[in-house]
Amino acid sequence: MPKTLIEPFRIKSIEPIRVTTRADREQLLAAAHLNVFLLRAEDVLIDWLTDSGTGAMSSRQWGAIMEGDESYAGARSFYRLEKVIQDITGMQHFVPTHQGRAAEKVLFTAVCKQGDLVPNNCHFDTTRGNLEYLGVEALDLVEAVGLQPATIAPFKGNIDLARAEEVLKKEGQRIPFGMLTVTNNTGGGQPVSMANIRAYAALLKKYGKPFIMDVCRFAENAMFIKMREPGYENTSIKAIAQEMFSYADGATMSAKKDGMVNIGGFIVLRSDEWLDEVRSDLIMMEGFPTYGGMAGRDLEALAVGLEEGLDEDYLRYRLRTAEYLGEKLDAAGVGFVKPTGGHAVYIDARTVLPGMPVQHYPAWALCNALYLEGGIRGVEIGSVMFGKRLDDGTETFHSMELVRLAFPRRMYTQSHFDYAAEVIAEVKQKAASIRGVKIVKQPKFLRHFTAQFDWA
Ligand code: F0G
Repeated sequence: MPKTLIEPFRIKSIEPIRVTTRADREQLLAAAHLNVFLLRAEDVLIDWLTDSGTGAMSSRQWGAIMEGDESYAGARSFYRLEKVIQDITGMQHFVPTHQGRAAEKVLFTAVCKQGDLVPNNCHFDTTRGNLEYLGVEALDLVEAVGLQPATIAPFKGNIDLARAEEVLKKEGQRIPFGMLTVTNNTGGGQPVSMANIRAYAALLKKYGKPFIMDVCRFAENAMFIKMREPGYENTSIKAIAQEMFSYADGATMSAKKDGMVNIGGFIVLRSDEWLDEVRSDLIMMEGFPTYGGMAGRDLEALAVGLEEGLDEDYLRYRLRTAEYLGEKLDAAGVGFVKPTGGHAVYIDARTVLPGMPVQHYPAWALCNALYLEGGIRGVEIGSVMFGKRLDDGTETFHSMELVRLAFPRRMYTQSHFDYAAEVIAEVKQKAASIRGVKIVKQPKFLRHFTAQFDWA
């Protein structure tokens, strides 16, 4: 058997990408105030800013688009998708939203109140933001190993059960439900084991609390379970996903990830308890219950995408692409969060720029260098994203300086990854010439999106 794991698809429709020169990119980045978020996408060669809503749909999905029923109420497309979702999740109630954060907002508004507390392995930014907006404390309880980038362990997304029990005991009356994010994006796209899901569910049950999963990347998590957790080697991905869902009482989903679509999301709920409240919030915030935030055609594309996202050949290739880039980075002496996650590689900028002071934002500097060297766009997860300028003009910094390269689904081929690995190695070679940055203009919140920089 040949060892090369090929892309398990062929290309039917293509979108040209534009090759620029280094001189072009220097100008373009300067015009974008040294912030890759402010570049035009057409000036990026390889866009690894996010895996969310950026992937390629299949010919079957594009075919399904024509089947979309755009009726306001009771559309055929709703019932088609409902059937697929009920089959995978085993949950009765499907509530469509326009994306993941809308699912969070609708559910939390219906169920949480000021002063509550929600434990999770790690809350994604929008999950935390939606909770904090309602005056709810978002508590991250990932196991200690999940915060150690260089330590290799199979399930670094697991929640710390002992700490979770402590919180349930002490703060029980404040907790409306427990959450778990699969895979754990904030912690490097790391998976959660079935044993951890099962034990956390039992713990929540013991304290009488419902269990809500954030399932954006549930299929990638299921594939990691198949590959790494003894006892699941011969179980189908769909059966693993069904077992994962069987422990939960509900879930929020951004379909822009493992749903293989460009927009969409949903809530699923096992019981009727919260349903009336959730549906009335949905009508106010998103739309009528049979379309929520999506067009009929989007519901159709998602019905196909959810099934394609569970395909084992696809998932094997998907996880392998991240691992493949990781191997090349290892060879180049570039550090990253290990093992590689499902959807992304998180480069540890300190291993490329060990001498750069944190005040010059090394991960931001590396992000810029990847664009200048090879037209690659990643995202800084470091002191620009998580640091703050205080009122007295001083700064707080983040504990890690990472650059996330997140891979759109079914979009880039192996030669794109080979090229990226060469660019990263080249940047490492030239590290001494990479310049840090300083912030010259910033908004009060979420400053990384719009801040303007100059060379330090
Ligand atoms: N939960 C997780 C774990 C996520 O990664 C995201 C989005 C969301 C919720 C929100 O979903 O974007 O559809 O509203 N993550 C994207 C990213 C944006 O780049 O990681 P959304």
